[in-house]
Amino acid sequence: TSDHLRHVESMATMPSGAGNISHLNAVILGESLASEENDLVFPSDHFSRQAHVSSPQQYLEMYKRSIEDPAGFWSDIAATFFWKQKWGQPVYSENLDVRKGDIRIEWFKGGITNICYNCLDTNVEAGLGDKIAFYWEGSELGVDATLTYTQLLKNVCQLANYLKDVGVKKGDAVVVYLPMLMELPITMLACARIGAVHSVVFAGFSAESLAQRIVDCKPKVVITCNAVKRGSKVIHLKDIVDAALIESSQSGVSVDVCLTYENQSAMKRESTKWLEGRDVWWQDVIPKYPTTCAVEWVDAEDPLFLLYTSGSTGKPKGVLHTTGGYMVYAATTFKYAFDYNSSDIYWCTADCGWITGHSYVTYGPLLNGATAVLYEGAPNYPDPGRCWDVVDKYKVTIFYTAPTLVRSLMRDSDEYVTRYSRKSLRVLGSVGEPINPSAWRWFFNVVGDSKCPISDTWWQTETGGFMITPLPGAWPQKPGSATFPFFGVQAVIVDEKGVEIEGECSGYLCVKCSWPGAFRTLYGDHERYETTYFKPFPGYYFSGDGCSRDKDGYHWLTGRVDDVINVSGHRIGTAEVESALVSHPQCAEGAVVGVEHEVKGQGIYAFVTLVEGVPYSEELRKSLVLAVRKQIGAFAAPDRIHWAPGLPKTRSGKIMRRILRKIASRQLDELGDTSTLAEPNVVDQLIALADV
Ligand code: PRX
Repeated sequence: TSDHLRHVESMATMPSGAGNISHLNAVILGESLASEENDLVFPSDHFSRQAHVSSPQQYLEMYKRSIEDPAGFWSDIAATFFWKQKWGQPVYSENLDVRKGDIRIEWFKGGITNICYNCLDTNVEAGLGDKIAFYWEGSELGVDATLTYTQLLKNVCQLANYLKDVGVKKGDAVVVYLPMLMELPITMLACARIGAVHSVVFAGFSAESLAQRIVDCKPKVVITCNAVKRGSKVIHLKDIVDAALIESSQSGVSVDVCLTYENQSAMKRESTKWLEGRDVWWQDVIPKYPTTCAVEWVDAEDPLFLLYTSGSTGKPKGVLHTTGGYMVYAATTFKYAFDYNSSDIYWCTADCGWITGHSYVTYGPLLNGATAVLYEGAPNYPDPGRCWDVVDKYKVTIFYTAPTLVRSLMRDSDEYVTRYSRKSLRVLGSVGEPINPSAWRWFFNVVGDSKCPISDTWWQTETGGFMITPLPGAWPQKPGSATFPFFGVQAVIVDEKGVEIEGECSGYLCVKCSWPGAFRTLYGDHERYETTYFKPFPGYYFSGDGCSRDKDGYHWLTGRVDDVINVSGHRIGTAEVESALVSHPQCAEGAVVGVEHEVKGQGIYAFVTLVEGVPYSEELRKSLVLAVRKQIGAFAAPDRIHWAPGLPKTRSGKIMRRILRKIASRQLDELGDTSTLAEPNVVDQLIALADV
């Protein structure tokens, strides 16, 4: 233990910012381990020995340096990338305190680089040209393809040349509305190569949502495909884009080019609706372009991408990430949290339409020269064994997914899992929402045969990469805990007054200093950036999540504390759903809350009042749900519509969501004080109508 003690001692002299890790003392000393042995799951010696970080002590040393000397810590890592010109001094500069002026975060400013070059060219030059970058697995069994690093580079260059040819320049936005085809990462990389800013919109969003994003970022080009198959259903993506483009042109934003990939397995080009002059078939033009393309060198702080996410108002937020810091952070978090090494085969089931697909399907893996699986379809198609079929087919070693999938697969017979060998697996990962201990254990015991550590990675669109995550070889794990902060992340828990709380506690999760992968602004609305994230607790970045810390210092995420619902790991603003509901001509008012859902984590529960004289009916319920599908997308469809003659409001007219949440979850004995309501009897009416 003398070694352990030395670390504990050294921690006592650490700057206060690192104070939160003093909670690690107990773990390192082994004190509380014994008492909680049953809750702890240790990595095997064999695993730890080979890991990048093999012990809590090693983590602590690295973490300590990352906090005491962030400039030195991150510069050493950044130096392993290719920079046309090295960054200037200081390595980073920041202001996270609204009281001291504008919020500003910069990393590696003055450094000139290109993330596409670092993903592809450097790997090809290092001799990885023939290594598989992507295994593409189609939705239908037996439909697949591969791309080596050399092939990927060539494809990216051809598209990059085309984009330049149609006038896309550094700083221009390109909107991407594609399913999980190889063309999706190709497009992201081609944009990055020429300094264009990609904005990928998940291909489950409706025309309205797509239009909203197009109007906000005004792209030169939209890239899509004609259709995609989901199970046996064909979805006409191009029709959705057409509708979005009509809508955005009505708002004064017209797009010159709609590059459309012909996805033959779903639909032939002959049946695709076409606008001559604007629409261009990918296959007709891209192959004609040269397979090399000079790189546009950009500043580390030049924008790389925009990704829209939900907030507590109806308008989505354009989260902006820049190049240098994001690159270093995505790559480093990937390497450590998955304990990646060059022989791994990595599969992340996320769609590139979300941040996970940006950082951990495209950029993180490629920056590490990894081989990744890209899967087109649904993880339970044609049956609940598909994931393990894919794992065996490609000998996947690292499997990264969402708790909602784990919970849904758990409901089927284990035989769907055990009929496959899965012996290649060595690390599992979870993201998107808290993973409940029973799902964790099933994932660990059944899928991972009790030998694969689980990296439960807590992070957000805004953070660019992992913030709180196990390092699989370093930590004994507790099922359901995301464990400890990543290097450079000063995670703190504050009370409602914004005061940091130490020790065992729960409160609001904040971050005290910037990290390289942090978002720099909300596109076109820096004020909203400051108001949403930095004003609630001055001096800190506020995540919007609640969190508790146990006596060993382990972090337990408890979910959103704002008006955001997390449905199957998808962030949905209650205000967005409400505004979709009231767009229905017969709906007067809507109030949406999240309720616990066995598979999705949270479900959407909508209270609606109707326009005077309109009777509630099953037909109306369906058309209300349809209104939400149409305005946002199918994934945001309410699970439950609760017809309400009136909503519980304060005398000043504010809806009392606290009461609605209790009614939605049928915790009727916990309604609390309803006497302050303008009309207390609406609560009884609502309860009486709960099962209508
Ligand atoms: O509430 C947290 C939850 O997902 C939110 C971020 O959503 P989004 O920006 O869409 O990014 C999802 C993928 C990173 C967070 O505020 N969340 C994400 N990962 C976890 C999580 N909650 C608990 N545990 C996690 N591992």
